[in-house]
Amino acid sequence: MNRVFNFSAGPSALPVEVLQTAAEEMLNYKDAGMSVMEMSHRSAAYEDIQEEAKTDLKDLMAIPDNYEILFLQGGASTQFAMVPLNLMTGSGKADFLLTGSWAKKAYQEAARYGDAKVVVSSEEDTFSYIPKTSEADFRKDADYVHICVNNTIYGTRFKPNQLPTVSNIPLVADMSSNILSEAYDVSKFGLIYAGAQKNMGPSGVCVVIIRKDLIGTAMDITPTMLNYKTQADADSKFNTPPCYSIYMCGLVYKWLKKLGGIDAIESINKEKANKLYDFIDNSKLYKGTVAVEDRSLMNVPFITGNKELDALFVKESKKAGLENLKGHRSVGGMRASIYNAMPMAGVDALIDFMKKFEKTNG
Ligand SMILES: Cc1ncc(COP(=O)(O)O)c(C=O)c1O
Repeated sequence: MNRVFNFSAGPSALPVEVLQTAAEEMLNYKDAGMSVMEMSHRSAAYEDIQEEAKTDLKDLMAIPDNYEILFLQGGASTQFAMVPLNLMTGSGKADFLLTGSWAKKAYQEAARYGDAKVVVSSEEDTFSYIPKTSEADFRKDADYVHICVNNTIYGTRFKPNQLPTVSNIPLVADMSSNILSEAYDVSKFGLIYAGAQKNMGPSGVCVVIIRKDLIGTAMDITPTMLNYKTQADADSKFNTPPCYSIYMCGLVYKWLKKLGGIDAIESINKEKANKLYDFIDNSKLYKGTVAVEDRSLMNVPFITGNKELDALFVKESKKAGLENLKGHRSVGGMRASIYNAMPMAGVDALIDFMKKFEKTNG
């Protein structure tokens, strides 16, 4: 079939079974006589697709009934503005943990709308670790505390049992690069958002999971489309939603459920990541770049310590059918993104290549 192992950080690999189903249903979706791309978003067939996607996501993440699931546009980046416009409306204060460039962008955007404060940052150390916090670090009257749960570029993550303690301040989380990868207790969050194009589907849709009591408090200046209430009242169909992207996410949710849900994928993801990290830790050539205890299960950055050798690694790995292993332009080196859809065979092929490369260049 000539498919490569695609280690892209996003948009990234999708499960082959999902792509096959989409291909089979491309011209005639379930006897509708048309593609999902051609359907009215008000048609019964499409309404079912969106409703099922919502139900499946709710099941997968055990989302409590007091949360609303929204399928929005504008990517995770629009949430950097939408969150403060909607939630920074009590004291007008929000506290931020700077654990990477995306967290910083969220902070910078919020600072346009109110009193945004950086509580801790690991920027001085190239975001190579997750700074510790305690409840006392946060302003008691903050409208929310914002974290980026998985830092795609640097390869760190807040583990499910190491989320900041924020008492009753709503915790807002960017989960773009690790949603559905391991079990997080949704009830610990006020709001979770995630661009789909890493672990959930194609680009074009951003999922927002919001506690219902946080809906309806937007600033007056909030554009209608960026008000969570508008979107919740219209079941994410205030305007034409990104129907095809939502359909694809729905297929990914079904694939994941068939596999055994989050617990099953979590253990596969841990096996994949441990295998790769173990190999890196035991090699003489490769080095991990972040604090071991904060390592991401999804994005695995590594270096040889020699820029020319890193460049050669990226070039040679591509020839071996391993694509997109170049690290983000802001950090260099290599990064293997091993999201849910990356099979163990892909990690094995990468380790095999790394061994061979070490033999010739180590
Ligand atoms: C953690 C994180 N947040 C936000 C974004 C931005 O997402 P989007 O391109 O959907 O706006 C990315 C994209 O790579 C990301 O990794």
